[in-house]
Amino acid sequence: MKRKVIIDCDPGIDDALALILAINSPELDILGITIVSGNVNGKKGEENAKKVLKLMGREDIDVYIGEEIPLVRKLITAEDTHGGDGLGESNYPKVGGQVLYGGVDFILEKAKSEEISIIALGPLTNIATALNRDEESFNKIKEIVSMGGAFKSHGNCSQVAEFNYWVDPDAVKEVFDKSNVKFTMVGLDVTREIVLTPNYIELIKQIGGDVAEFIVSITRFYVDFHWEQERTLGCVINDPLAVAYFIDNSFCKGFMTYLDIVTDGIAIGQTLVDVGDFYRKAPNGLVLTDVDSKKFIRFFLGRIFKDNIKDIEKVINNNKYGM
Ligand code: BDR
Ligand code: CA
Repeated sequence: MKRKVIIDCDPGIDDALALILAINSPELDILGITIVSGNVNGKKGEENAKKVLKLMGREDIDVYIGEEIPLVRKLITAEDTHGGDGLGESNYPKVGGQVLYGGVDFILEKAKSEEISIIALGPLTNIATALNRDEESFNKIKEIVSMGGAFKSHGNCSQVAEFNYWVDPDAVKEVFDKSNVKFTMVGLDVTREIVLTPNYIELIKQIGGDVAEFIVSITRFYVDFHWEQERTLGCVINDPLAVAYFIDNSFCKGFMTYLDIVTDGIAIGQTLVDVGDFYRKAPNGLVLTDVDSKKFIRFFLGRIFKDNIKDIEKVINNNKYGM
């Protein structure tokens, strides 16, 4: 049976890849996409989600803009990482059409009437606002899988903070403190392992077609950013792992723990993972610590390029390429 999901995101290059993966996954019934400000502002995020939907022939899925600023902090976006258009300066044409607002109400409406889960790929502003607006309906949500935070890994916005949780740490705090919904933190400890290396990008390019071209063109900027920033060859694609984990928990392992977050000062955005049970508080989330990155990448490519599975396997299984 398909699981009903809302994908809350801030597209974003890796969000776009996550949407492509989700759309190609028969286990998911995507009820809608809600947009939160993060990598780019809400309007740009909405345009980018629609570009992906058009590419995938799924313009039947509605996109709702949600909260446009974090709960307390000023919005900080990440065009340095994702390009001026949020999709690696690929500058695909805008899709247009009606712009829908009310992302938070959409989440609550669905939570009231259906059994839904949320895959959250951006800051948790929409999620926390839904929780604060109608706690009872919110707590009917079955599960939230959130890409964000870091346990032992260093951050990507400061030594200790990951981008999504750093943009709106107050929203994360609300969710950690008040939500009763099953929560999984897909943090940098596992997503950093997911690198789309130049060999994988070349493989995608050779497969060809509209989706391949889109992926190659949006990741170019991201690859350059990774080289400049941290001398990584290729790009870390965080968000698709949250989708994969939601579909199949066997991609990652982790542990239940009490979670908190720093909301101001030098360590703002740092997730506090109480591995030593110092706070003596009940666990409020599952933190993922280990990932089978090879299994993930096979899944990711296999799902998106189903018709080319034989070529993909031939290349990946050839030890020469180190894939
Ligand atoms: C997260 O931040 C964003 O830049 C990505 O889209 C991802 O959701 C990684 O820290
Ligand atoms: Ca994102």
